[in-house]
Amino acid sequence: MSNEPAIVSSVAPEFAVLPQHLGVIMDGNGRWATSQGKPRNEGHRAGVEALRRLVACAVEFEIEYLTIFSFSSENWARPADEINAILGLMKRFVASDISKFVAHNVRVRILGRREGLSKPILQMIEQAESRTAHCTGLQLNVAFNYGGRQEITDAVRALAQDVQSGKISPEDIDEAAIAEKLYTAQMPDPDLIFRSSGEVRLSNFLLWQAAYAEFVFFDEFWPEFNRDIFVRIMEEFSGRKRRFGGVDG
Ligand code: IPE
Ligand code: IPE
Ligand code: MG
Repeated sequence: MSNEPAIVSSVAPEFAVLPQHLGVIMDGNGRWATSQGKPRNEGHRAGVEALRRLVACAVEFEIEYLTIFSFSSENWARPADEINAILGLMKRFVASDISKFVAHNVRVRILGRREGLSKPILQMIEQAESRTAHCTGLQLNVAFNYGGRQEITDAVRALAQDVQSGKISPEDIDEAAIAEKLYTAQMPDPDLIFRSSGEVRLSNFLLWQAAYAEFVFFDEFWPEFNRDIFVRIMEEFSGRKRRFGGVDG
């Protein structure tokens, strides 16, 4: 866990600190659509536009790591037509925006279990990662088919295999060893996680990594997200006192 939680901003000096790693739970697409008398899938379409606004904010404010929750390991419980609509939107998003990512030096990684994904989805993931692999600006993590408990379970299993094969001994298993087996290996923990739509829960997002994250929950549905909301949240984060178990010093 990093004790260097946040960065002093040169881009936006009005904020004392900005998060180095920002996690975002993009929630409320369906309710937004319903509130407009539209089908839920229209909400997902509008949600992609909001995601574009979020990435633009992250680039503008020079956030180093942005991890977005796009599809959870539990979201397969949704009706097939909604799942297909979300997967189709993701594929189109990657296909149409990948050159923009490269132009803005944005590196894309997909975090989540790969087993069981269809060939076209795996190809899309491979394309997004390989085409942006050289980018050194914003590190954009897309949590897809992602579950925090699943991630920790997979890490524990990998460590058990390392013990069994004699690569390490049980005494070598410490917090750093576990962190290195997670999808976020080598990355700092999120300093701030925010969630739209008024729901106040993690829904299995970054369970290990969120140990000392700050949280902001706001009422607007995800498709309503814009730069003003981003600035409001950064102001809120900037005013937080983080102690990491210590005392103010
Ligand atoms: C978030 O919006 C998008 C995904 C989970 C894929 P929802 O689809 O969860 O919208 P609500 O929460 O039902 O309104
Ligand atoms: C969490 O939202 C997953 C994503 C935002 C992708 P959900 O809408 O699936 O979460 P719950 O079911 O309300 O907890
Ligand atoms: Mg939801």
